[in-house]
Amino acid sequence: MKGIKLEKIKTILITGANRGLGSELAKIFSENNYEVIKHGRKGDVNILGDLRDANSINNLIEISKKRNLEILINNAGILCPFLPLEEITTKQIEEILEVNLIAPIKLIKGIYPFFIERGYGTIININSDLALRKGFQRSIYSASKGGLRGFSLGLKKEAKEKGIEIIDFYLKKILNPKKVAENIYKRYAQKRKLKNV
Ligand SMILES: NC(=O)c1ccc[n+]([C@@H]2O[C@H](COP(=O)([O-])OP(=O)(O)OC[C@H]3O[C@@H](n4cnc5c(N)ncnc54)[C@H](OP(=O)(O)O)[C@@H]3O)[C@@H](O)[C@H]2O)c1
Repeated sequence: MKGIKLEKIKTILITGANRGLGSELAKIFSENNYEVIKHGRKGDVNILGDLRDANSINNLIEISKKRNLEILINNAGILCPFLPLEEITTKQIEEILEVNLIAPIKLIKGIYPFFIERGYGTIININSDLALRKGFQRSIYSASKGGLRGFSLGLKKEAKEKGIEIIDFYLKKILNPKKVAENIYKRYAQKRKLKNV
């Protein structure tokens, strides 16, 4: 899906871009002239790192500053384990909350002052409809995504006053990651009023 001409190259960081939706988002943004920094724990990425590790988060923040990042996409996530609460281990709870909630907050918090200083920036959070509706055997995943929703809603107004836009996508089950990535790009581009979408 090509066709949007930008006056200048914009740099975007996508977490969890080695597979799934993240990899499709990386493709569509680079097809549309963005310089994509792909993060992942392995595979064809530009920056390696586990989001549970403080050094990895700091590394991503430092690289974002150096590369004059304009868009952050918090995509990496641990999917819903579909287990009743009594079968979920403490380790699983910690991992889900760290990757789906704490890591995006830490990344946003780290990049935020730099966006403020420059006067603009965009944050895209890949969230789930489970942040909005009742689930079944989804308690911890819903807590993580609901927490991210609350964080985003709580920050949106003050961020906007500083020129920073936060866009949340509440996705249903992903059957076709390429199509979902195209729709996300389209909605982002429409919001930014880019032409020829
Ligand atoms: N799939 C769905 O139906 C669905 C529905 C609604 C919302 N979502 C959301 O959409 C986003 C993408 O989902 P997806 O279906 O593309 O998932 P996916 O195929 O399972 O990919 C998840 C990505 O997150 C990365 N990740 C997981 N744990 C990590 C960690 N500790 N450190 C760094 N990276 C880590 C994975 O890296 P590795 O390859 O190293 O594991 C992978 O790149 C997620 O936030 C998910 O919650 C998905």
